[in-house]
Amino acid sequence: MNRQPLRLAIMEATRILEDAGVASPRADAELIASHVLGVERGRLPLVPLVDPPVVEAIRQLVMRRAKRVPLQHLTGWAALGDITVDIGPGVFVPRPETELLLEWGLKLLKGREYPVVVDLCTGSGVLALAVAHARPDAVVYAVDVDPNALAWARHNADLRAAAGDTSIRLYSGDVTDATVFAELDGLVDLVLCNPPYVPQGTQVPPEVAEHDPPVAVFAPGGGLEVIRHVVAAAARLLRPGGGVAIEHDDTHGKAVPALLSARRVLTDVVDHPDLAGRPRFVTALRTVGSAA
Ligand SMILES: C[S@@+](CC[C@H](N)C(=O)[O-])C[C@H]1O[C@@H](n2cnc3c(N)ncnc32)[C@H](O)[C@@H]1O
Repeated sequence: MNRQPLRLAIMEATRILEDAGVASPRADAELIASHVLGVERGRLPLVPLVDPPVVEAIRQLVMRRAKRVPLQHLTGWAALGDITVDIGPGVFVPRPETELLLEWGLKLLKGREYPVVVDLCTGSGVLALAVAHARPDAVVYAVDVDPNALAWARHNADLRAAAGDTSIRLYSGDVTDATVFAELDGLVDLVLCNPPYVPQGTQVPPEVAEHDPPVAVFAPGGGLEVIRHVVAAAARLLRPGGGVAIEHDDTHGKAVPALLSARRVLTDVVDHPDLAGRPRFVTALRTVGSAA
């Protein structure tokens, strides 16, 4: 068998992905090679030569990625915080920008013991599970309306619990229902939410259009309808001094903060940029001493 330089296989894969319009061709080519070889991406330079079956396995995955199947559907996982979750057809692929929202939430929880945390629109469960991993003392609730997403969330919750993390409390429910988690009213330290927020009719890349569930991506009301209900839920659920973080479309850097500012019980409303500098998530605190 003629062994081949891995470097050349990655160069060829990068070219194919670039021609297919993939946004980060080199990174994806390396991550596919890393997946096939079972070697961390940073250690690929230590693998000079590979066998033809490895080259063929890389090529097969590259051809699927060139058809704009999300990388995470090919590798089967996505990372957030210090955990990975399983990902595949029927569930939203967690995005790197959500990392900053998680960081804000975990910072808010510092110094609070046994915090109560709610993840609205949980999808794969990734935010709830990342919090449960980072804060074993937290009581974490999560909800989603889509049974397919919930099946992935249950699967991931079982995996994380088997790995030793504190179990999360996972529910089927609609965040536009004014009674969602009503039993937690005034008791929650942190509400996290990455809701569907893309205005209906927006053109999105094939990875999103063909592989993310539409219910996870698009929202009526110019993309704001689900967020309106999430803001109302947060105002109701948070305890005095508790905090909320909501991801939003980059065209909503003013509209979503305005929804939070309009609530008498929410204060310190701040909008935050994502890793590319675009408006991406808003945070607010529950005032101390007034009723919702
Ligand atoms: C953008 S995805 C976010 C998933 C996950 N939190 C993440 O960051 O990867 C939005 C999720 O909200 C769910 N969803 C949409 N409308 C909902 C509603 N009215 N009530 C509850 N969940 C909803 C979708 O099923 C989807 O799983």
